[in-house]
Amino acid sequence: MSDNPVVAVVGATGAVGREMLKTLEQRNFPARQVIALASARSAGSKVLFKDQEITVDELGKDSFKGVDLAIFSAGGATSEKFAPIAVESGCVVVDNSNAWRMDKNVPLVVPEVNPEALDGHRGIIANPNCSTIQMVVVLKPLHDAGTIKRVIVSTYQAVSGSGQKAVDELETQVRNLFSMKEIEPKVYPYQIAFNCLPHIDVFLENDYTMEEMKMVNETKKIMGSDQVRVTATTVRVPVFYGHCESVNIETEKKITPQEARAILSQAPGITVLDNPAEKIYPMPLFAAGEDDTFVGRIREDETIANGLNLWIVADNIRKGAALNTVQISELLVQKNLLRV
Ligand code: A2P
Repeated sequence: MSDNPVVAVVGATGAVGREMLKTLEQRNFPARQVIALASARSAGSKVLFKDQEITVDELGKDSFKGVDLAIFSAGGATSEKFAPIAVESGCVVVDNSNAWRMDKNVPLVVPEVNPEALDGHRGIIANPNCSTIQMVVVLKPLHDAGTIKRVIVSTYQAVSGSGQKAVDELETQVRNLFSMKEIEPKVYPYQIAFNCLPHIDVFLENDYTMEEMKMVNETKKIMGSDQVRVTATTVRVPVFYGHCESVNIETEKKITPQEARAILSQAPGITVLDNPAEKIYPMPLFAAGEDDTFVGRIREDETIANGLNLWIVADNIRKGAALNTVQISELLVQKNLLRV
């Protein structure tokens, strides 16, 4: 493609969609034009891009005419229906939903981990689940150094991962609880303010949640290894922005905490914050709005020969969604892969 691409943001009024627009702007993505698409509910409303108001159009089957790249964050059903229509119109899709991630013809990409998976794409590229992205960014350099055999992860996930309505719900519940008003959970099955819900996405037949199985299956696909065994417990906590993960790994070759800190300090997209004596460790409070994935509390698992414990934090809306999508889009431009 000789000209800069025309980019459509699908779900432009949502929590991730707005961050996508912000990220395209901040990273000066070489777009000739950016168009904003959402449901009929928002048609005619405005979103901001480079200090200009863009009018939101209703997503329809003709929305992709003349569009080169569509970045989707409008839920699985919308992606399932409209991503093939976009590809049919000659557009490359980077999709943030769960709809296409495990399709064997669809690359599932974290640019720091498996950029080569983009080569030979067939029009749709999937952006992984937010919890998976921040974990694999840290796991990959350790896997290269010592071959990870097993991962045990527990997550502490912010409400923004469930969209703008969930951010509003937590805020409203906190206000109402302090004002002695009744609260009425809508997004979550129970009150989320001052609570933790060990339930993200639907429960499956094996008693795990879909979110937990996304972490298991997506990690293997991105790392390109069925040998990495992963088990997960995913929990929603009353934090607005920033997912935390307690991650235990067992490796074939021993990696000491000092070696792990040195390896991770050199790895792309990672900041090591690990000085317990100075009370330095990653927290959502400081990770929110940042691009890097933060890792700390690196210590030996003293119950096995080759084990490490890690604490990983990232902004789920940025690295977990919008930023990773834009980084994939940048790679598509650099590699001249913006064609079906
Ligand atoms: P809308 O604002 O018109 O509902 P979030 O994840 O923050 O809830 O945002 C979801 C995004 O996906 C919003 O921009 C929302 O638009 C959009 N969306 C939801 N359903 C559809 C649909 N059926 N068609 C197009 N966009 C949709």
